[in-house]
Amino acid sequence: MKEREADGQIRYARAPCVTVRRATIADLERIMEIEVTAYSAPWHTQTMRSELEADPERKVYLVAEVDGWMAGYIGSHVFAGEVHIATVAVAPRYQRMGLGELLVLTMLAYAVEHGCDYVTLEYRISNRAAEQLYQKVGFIPVRVRTSYYIDNGEDAIVAEITNIRGSRYRKKLERLIERWGLRHEYDVHVII
Ligand SMILES: CC(C)(COP(=O)(O)OP(=O)(O)OC[C@H]1O[C@@H](n2cnc3c(N)ncnc32)[C@H](O)[C@@H]1OP(=O)(O)O)[C@@H](O)C(=O)NCCC(=O)NCCS
Repeated sequence: MKEREADGQIRYARAPCVTVRRATIADLERIMEIEVTAYSAPWHTQTMRSELEADPERKVYLVAEVDGWMAGYIGSHVFAGEVHIATVAVAPRYQRMGLGELLVLTMLAYAVEHGCDYVTLEYRISNRAAEQLYQKVGFIPVRVRTSYYIDNGEDAIVAEITNIRGSRYRKKLERLIERWGLRHEYDVHVII
């Protein structure tokens, strides 16, 4: 519920409810709406469809909803004790509200809980938001894939977190989740 205050600003009368849940094929349309606004070279609908229809143990897709409205999603490929984060996007009007970080932290916690020890991803060398987000949660850039992106020939940075189930990273992850909770006034429900 929103209320208009004396200064004319709209503020939430209570903490917004943020739900992180598994994506289903019913989410395809809204995911694609976000995909085409968030990415310069979005995936085709058919690619996203096959991701959402794949074995949910191997392709883990989560969405974040704010008061029931999907604001972002993350998708990972899980295999042989490894997690590869293939995509994460937040709709422009919901960006800089902590949701991208919440999705990444939730996926990292999922990896730990499901016995995975190694997480990788890649991002465009020009993508400052992605770089800062991934650095914040502990990804280390390890190599460059030259001319990786076919739309503009841009390089990709490959980054990783090793030994995420070790006590050092688990403590870091706990601290990151705790700090996120202290900073963001949401009523959070994670159902995965
Ligand atoms: C990258 C993306 C998912 C971040 O989502 P978000 O919800 O806006 O990010 P958050 O509000 O959770 O921010 C978490 C951290 O990310 C970093 N960050 C996010 N947006 C940033 C920006 N525009 N510039 C610099 N750092 C940024 C910061 O480190 C931030 O921490 P801080 O708030 O303590 O500074 C979002 O910008 C997006 O959807 N971009 C388009 C798609 C994309 O590039 N995905 C990544 C592909 S590899």
